[in-house]
Amino acid sequence: MTYQHTPVMLKEILAYLNPKSGENYIDCTLGGAGYTLEIAKRIGSEGKILSIDLDQTAIANAVEKIQQNKYKNIILANDNFKNLSAIIKKNFANNKTTKFAGIVFDLGLSSAQLQDQSRGFSFQLVNAPLNMAFGQNTKESAESIINEYSENELTRIFKDYGEEKNAWQIAKQIIKTRREMPIKTVDQLLVIINKTVDQNRRALKIHPATKIFQALRIAVNDELENLKKVLPQAISALAVNGKIAIVAFHSLEDRIVKQFFKQESRSCVCSPICPACQCNHQAQLQILTPKVIKPTEKEILDNPRSRSAKLRIAKKI
Ligand SMILES: C[S@@+](CC[C@H](N)C(=O)[O-])C[C@H]1O[C@@H](n2cnc3c(N)ncnc32)[C@H](O)[C@@H]1O
Repeated sequence: MTYQHTPVMLKEILAYLNPKSGENYIDCTLGGAGYTLEIAKRIGSEGKILSIDLDQTAIANAVEKIQQNKYKNIILANDNFKNLSAIIKKNFANNKTTKFAGIVFDLGLSSAQLQDQSRGFSFQLVNAPLNMAFGQNTKESAESIINEYSENELTRIFKDYGEEKNAWQIAKQIIKTRREMPIKTVDQLLVIINKTVDQNRRALKIHPATKIFQALRIAVNDELENLKKVLPQAISALAVNGKIAIVAFHSLEDRIVKQFFKQESRSCVCSPICPACQCNHQAQLQILTPKVIKPTEKEILDNPRSRSAKLRIAKKI
């Protein structure tokens, strides 16, 4: 099996986490197993890494790599990371008190998923079905959203998740087109987008479909909600001094991580006009990256997909 993905900011992640023999880790986004295998090497046979992915293809690829390299310390879970506490409970049933030295997230999709025509993530692959689900059991697909959602709902998705200026016009054109025939392929959607966005924008570096495809992917996979749900679970799974490292690829996700870290690093979250603290909130995190970390120019040259990556790391206190 060839599963292509170059891990992003791997050196930085390993430098901050500094995995040591006997420690336990969680990789919430296994993908091509780039982070998992490097961490597994460092924690040795005494440690364990629990690696999660919604995509059965990523799991199958990891099984192959684990067999080739004879790793015995990797536990795979084909699940949604939003169920983190339950996944830990299931896989560490014999040791209910297990806490983790580090938890990593590398959000979004892998290059292998992007390049797989049958998944419909890329607007550059013609004749692809409008799927865009990370997992094989995801209820929604881009096709169901495009053909079943109302004009208002589509406009909201394109605006909120794609920050698309022509959101309403594109939604309107989708409704008009689907009255004549169902919209089932990437090509059909591209025709609609190209017809709707103004000619000037087509000359820009970013293809007008970029934002619409991002918006649909976020909606299909409920990406922002999953992230909001998993963050508190991740913090409670960490040992004291354990670290959480998160790579985000768009500002919507990065904002959620930044705000969560900020909130959880404060010992009072009362309104500034409140005369005395009433919240009893306890700081749980220390932010280790006050300035977000970005890939080096060399990494961007070697792996252009890394260019929009932003890494934030915090430590449990
Ligand atoms: C960017 S890739 C990770 C690449 C990985 N760090 C590596 O080095 O190869 C992101 C992976 O996360 C998975 N994923 C995204 N959202 C998920 C979720 N909510 N639960 C589980 N897996 C998810 C995707 O299916 C994809 O395989």
